[in-house]
Amino acid sequence: MIIFVGYATVEGQTRKIAEAVATAVEAQGHRALLFDITLGGEYAVSHPQAAILCAPVHAARYPSAFASFVRQEASWLSSVPSAFVSVSLLIRSEFEEEQEEAMHFPDALVSDSGWRPTMMHHSAGALRYTEYDFFKRWIIRRMAEVENAPTDVSRDHEFTDWKALSGFVGEFLDKAKG
Ligand SMILES: Cc1cc2nc3c(=O)[nH]c(=O)nc-3n(C[C@H](O)[C@H](O)[C@H](O)COP(=O)(O)O)c2cc1C
Repeated sequence: MIIFVGYATVEGQTRKIAEAVATAVEAQGHRALLFDITLGGEYAVSHPQAAILCAPVHAARYPSAFASFVRQEASWLSSVPSAFVSVSLLIRSEFEEEQEEAMHFPDALVSDSGWRPTMMHHSAGALRYTEYDFFKRWIIRRMAEVENAPTDVSRDHEFTDWKALSGFVGEFLDKAKG
């Protein structure tokens, strides 16, 4: 199968996640078409047989270029088996209400676009303190304090569970094959 793997990223973690998705797809003998939605442009394959989209949550929403893409492509996305990987920090929270909140991040996207992903995966992202500017670092450090997340700003912290992610991709491909 040819699988469209589209992603948006702000700080790079979701690119890394989408690359891991594409690697898992190819490891199962399929072809992955990796596409950066934020860069726009054309994607060359006319009939992907399935799609996996990945996007990060920033200030409780997905990047607007990603939301527009999903709205625009909702009908073909809904016509093939499709999966959504939502990347956030709240999903790794020790508080159940916050995890619950993270599980609901995709709701608005789904209801606004009409896209109904067949499967959904929630992945924890990363804190890239070394790449934030002063203001962003200050805000995210405050957020991390409340969240009991690492506050050592001298380095980056990655929370993505790579094994769970490739397990999800395997499960999705099994389903997509029918
Ligand atoms: C400015 C900013 C705002 C964020 N807002 C949220 C948020 O509202 N909820 C959440 O769960 N995670 C939030 N995060 C965490 C991101 O989802 C996480 O850092 C993710 O790895 C970012 O992915 P990216 O590197 O692909 O942009 C925020 C991160 C930044 C830098």
